[in-house]
Amino acid sequence: MTFLTTQTEANGPALVRVQELTKRFPVSKGFFTRSQSYIHAVDGISFDLGVSDSLGLVGESGCGKTVMALSILGLIPSPPGEIVAGSSIRFNGEELLEVKPARLREIRGNEISMIFQEPMTSLNPVLTIGRQLTEALELHLKLDGAAAVRRAIGLLEMVGIPEAAARINDYPHQFSGGMRQRVSIARAFAIEPRLLYADEAFTALDELTAARVRKDLLGLIRETGITTLFITHSVPEAVDIAQRILIFGRPGRVIREIDRDKELENGKSIAAIEIMVRDGLQTAREAMIAEGTAEDMTAEDVQKIKAERGI
Ligand SMILES: Nc1ncnc2c1ncn2[C@@H]1O[C@H](COP(=O)(O)OP(=O)(O)OP(=O)(O)O)[C@@H](O)[C@H]1O
Ligand SMILES: [Mg+2]
Repeated sequence: MTFLTTQTEANGPALVRVQELTKRFPVSKGFFTRSQSYIHAVDGISFDLGVSDSLGLVGESGCGKTVMALSILGLIPSPPGEIVAGSSIRFNGEELLEVKPARLREIRGNEISMIFQEPMTSLNPVLTIGRQLTEALELHLKLDGAAAVRRAIGLLEMVGIPEAAARINDYPHQFSGGMRQRVSIARAFAIEPRLLYADEAFTALDELTAARVRKDLLGLIRETGITTLFITHSVPEAVDIAQRILIFGRPGRVIREIDRDKELENGKSIAAIEIMVRDGLQTAREAMIAEGTAEDMTAEDVQKIKAERGI
């Protein structure tokens, strides 16, 4: 796979540096309330993502993982989302909270690729599989004609689509869910981005397909050294893909950071690291229950669990 950019400046300056990021959404005011209240979806989060690092975000539903990642990409419209003063998001040294929308679109289009839970979000249903890829190659790598088609076939082979040359004229609906997710991965890598962002990329797939596609994606991440921001509910997935894992606690807060590689160096097994992550998630759940912020709970549930646990 010689055509993919291999990033070699591992441990160089941070590609993404987030400092004190706070993002809030106004809650509609009650009739008798004068003051505005807010949901703090992201509440003072800071982290660095070095070139070739992979960072995983795990946490309960509603704790702010997607809002945080989409804020980095400038994809949360304001209003309703408000970034609070003092927040900073630097991409390759450039302050994204200050750049013009056109520059932000340029960075997003050329340097960041996204893979979402539902592959049809990133694929266009009226374009052939081949065209989805050649379009990206023409736009970003200035390749056209036969060269673009050759590379599109290479990309499909790279993500494990059998008989890629024959399937290139199919439309997305002629592919299975797993194959469609493979195409969106191929498209993500086609533009040779600097940052790969994947949000629940395998949740829509059955267990076996998810495991296969994940293994192939992990191979590509390792081979290309692409910097990765990876969001998941799955503990094994997080530990497999991410070198460092941030565990989100009560909405918008990181309560624990686990450095998988350091733990491995210290002799911990993968299974032991998974237990550390699960313990972190359990602590986060208890904090959310104590605050009554767990999304899926009724007030009665909260009372019952508090009583049971003595919290
Ligand atoms: N456009 C919006 N307007 C108002 N509130 C929002 C908006 N988008 C997100 N939120 C709120 O921000 C909080 C964080 O949501 P987010 O989507 O980041 O959660 P998540 O951790 O990604 O959850 P999941 O695991 O279910 O995807 C939630 O309380 C959500 O209701
Ligand atoms: Mg989400």
